[in-house]
Amino acid sequence: MSKSSGASTPPIPNPMDLSGSTAVVTGASRGIGLHIALGLLRQGANVITMQRGPVAPELAELAAGTGRIAQAYPVDLSDPDSVAAAAQAVLAEHRVDILVNNAGTQIRHDSVEFPLEDFDTVMNVNARAVFQLCQLFGAPMLERGTGKIVNLASMLTFQGGLRVPAYAASKAAVGQLTKALCNEWAGRGVNVNAVAPGYIATEMNSALIADEARSEQILGRIPAGRWGAADDLAGAVLFLASPAAQYIHGTILAVDGGWLAR
Ligand SMILES: NC(=O)c1ccc[n+]([C@@H]2O[C@H](COP(=O)([O-])OP(=O)(O)OC[C@H]3O[C@@H](n4cnc5c(N)ncnc54)[C@H](OP(=O)(O)O)[C@@H]3O)[C@@H](O)[C@H]2O)c1
Repeated sequence: MSKSSGASTPPIPNPMDLSGSTAVVTGASRGIGLHIALGLLRQGANVITMQRGPVAPELAELAAGTGRIAQAYPVDLSDPDSVAAAAQAVLAEHRVDILVNNAGTQIRHDSVEFPLEDFDTVMNVNARAVFQLCQLFGAPMLERGTGKIVNLASMLTFQGGLRVPAYAASKAAVGQLTKALCNEWAGRGVNVNAVAPGYIATEMNSALIADEARSEQILGRIPAGRWGAADDLAGAVLFLASPAAQYIHGTILAVDGGWLAR
């Protein structure tokens, strides 16, 4: 049967096994990114983090026990020169099989007075750096004809939110970039997908969590009956980064306790 008529790939003994691969995760200092990095390492991958500080102690400790790499490359994702320099430093030393664009930032103001400087910061970290890193790490993946990219979207990829217009615009952009790159790269062996977290209890949401009324209102819409935890995302990311997801392209997988179903 020809490839175009639907020939499948031969069965893989453990399609979630990432042994021998190297993954880059942005923003793995804490929160969701740290748990994604821990999950990738547990699943057999070497982990390169691109973040502002050193490797988180939990990640360094886990890596030491496995003999696999956990190495941090400093970057400020709001600065395209810093992004380019850090990515080039990583690529000079590693073959990168998996890219997880996790880092993100959120700034809240009423829209009418939202400072343009803050708008630019959010767009640059959440959307421009994602695109730039997809280009920089995607190029060698395309040359080899294999690679996995997972971007962190949001409920605000689909909804508008309140007082976070830049964040909503940036996460809509993440969804559209995921689909746009999928259309160009799926036929060339590179899977580009996204996960969309629901309401997850991390530092990013400390203001929402502190607002008891708003926090209760959010909880009331979550069918699972709880806010998400920082480690709730790792399973979906590992799946999309693994051979199990070989024929999944351009999808945005919600990990939201059912929020979007309401
Ligand atoms: N929590 C949620 O409910 C939720 C919902 C939907 C989507 N998400 C998305 O999930 C991802 C992770 O979120 P989280 O909740 O884990 O957030 P978090 O706890 O606030 O962590 C954000 C991470 O991004 C890094 N970062 C931010 N700006 C950066 C910059 N300019 N340069 C380098 N690193 C930078 C932070 O590094 P530092 O430690 O150096 O600040 C940190 O590692 C984000 O893309 C977020 O938008 C989260």
